[in-house]
Amino acid sequence: MKNNTTDKAVLAKVFDLMNDWILESQNPDTPVIDYHKPEELQKILKLNISPEGANIDEILVEIQKYLKYAVKTGHPAYLNQLFGGFNFPAFLGELVTALTNTSMYTYEVAPVATLMEKALMEKMIGYTGWKSGTGSLLTGGSNTNMVAMLLARNVKFDGSKMNGIPSGVRPAVLVSERSHFSMLKGANTIGIGQNAVIKVPVDENGRMRGTAVQNAFNKAVADGYTPFILCTTAGTTETGSFDAINEVSDFAQTNNLWHHVDGSWGGSSIISKKYQHLFLGLEKADSFSWNPHKLMNIPLICSALLVKGNNVMREEIQSYDSDYIYHSNDNSDYDLGPASLQCGRRVDSLKLWLAWKFYGDEGYAKRIEHLYDLAGYCTTYVENHDDLELLFPTQSLNVNFRFRTPEGIDVDAFNEALRYKLIETGDAMVNYCILPKGLSIRLVLLNPDLTQEDLDRFYNRFLNAAYLLLKQWQKPVVKVNSL
Ligand SMILES: Cc1ncc(COP(=O)(O)O)c(C=O)c1O
Repeated sequence: MKNNTTDKAVLAKVFDLMNDWILESQNPDTPVIDYHKPEELQKILKLNISPEGANIDEILVEIQKYLKYAVKTGHPAYLNQLFGGFNFPAFLGELVTALTNTSMYTYEVAPVATLMEKALMEKMIGYTGWKSGTGSLLTGGSNTNMVAMLLARNVKFDGSKMNGIPSGVRPAVLVSERSHFSMLKGANTIGIGQNAVIKVPVDENGRMRGTAVQNAFNKAVADGYTPFILCTTAGTTETGSFDAINEVSDFAQTNNLWHHVDGSWGGSSIISKKYQHLFLGLEKADSFSWNPHKLMNIPLICSALLVKGNNVMREEIQSYDSDYIYHSNDNSDYDLGPASLQCGRRVDSLKLWLAWKFYGDEGYAKRIEHLYDLAGYCTTYVENHDDLELLFPTQSLNVNFRFRTPEGIDVDAFNEALRYKLIETGDAMVNYCILPKGLSIRLVLLNPDLTQEDLDRFYNRFLNAAYLLLKQWQKPVVKVNSL
């Protein structure tokens, strides 16, 4: 049996390692990743677990290795995905959360975290314009979308909580063609099937508009479907577009559709008065996904589902054979578990509460506004550079562009290869997506510590890598597989 007592010296060492890693992550001259192919990394890591175990010094070595090869998602050259940045108060909250290891089902085992989550949900609902609402922190934006669909299904098809979907009905979900893939997963999970997700075409700015929704709805009905939920996106994954929430809210109300707004990516913009106009019509919607682990830089996972009204979540989710855990007493009204699909649920409230307390509404609004300014800066940079091409009009915090290639070089294949070069060298991490014009480098602004100099540095590295790659480009023209 191993001795499990803590060792202050080891703890101090781990804190030192973490501190070094944070400093390295903030230093633009360190690589954003020490990249190795999976087979190589596997050899380096030696991941076998021996029967006799290891001592704590060996554990420290493993932690060092983990940190060495981890992607520095708070690094100024990390522009890759819809999460990242380093949020110190939230990080402290995450540490304390792990330390106190508890579950969110009852007030009894998580008194402070429960009250914090309730306070946060109330605060977030305050931005929606609803008279009342409830919310819950779930395991990611995808799951918030899925649970919104489930609630809509149960509300719109009476009895389906207990008996499933009534026979003879073909429920359908209306979403923008640029909505997140979690809509498909959600439809699969709630038992209506992915084919029941009807994709509504978007306009030239990637926005779903009222007329297109009307047409898609009419067609779905003519095809024998019963649409029951309309999902708009507040910040699409690829182009950061905001659907015309107000226009389609009215349509949803008139046609008895649940209206869910997926603000997983752009939702936090609502904190800034300057960008609240993007959410016009949210007050008429039924539910809202808001992912603080994206634009508020809270460590993964931190995702809220907010639902209009007082009891919908609890009524449509709760099951009744749970008296081994939920007891009637003076604090049971505070239990959050009945309104959750999970039993054990980690504490995601502390880190968000601490960060929000630290920055305040104004601090967060400034952070977010700074990011919108930087998106404008990047857009202008691309527009003013002869070798770069903007692939989509910038809508919010996603800047889509590519390197222009000379005649005879496949522009998609080149840009894809260029992106991998940047990762291999550790110069930058930036992702790509496929847009109507082709493969697009998608630069995401979400780290509020970024400066214009950081972005200049990124573009310099991007261009230098492109010029170098051009010299080496001798491959025959091949189309990228994923296109
Ligand atoms: C618009 C949108 N919705 C939902 C999600 C899913 O969020 P999560 O990654 O937290 O599951 C994403 C993720 O990028 C997203 O961009």
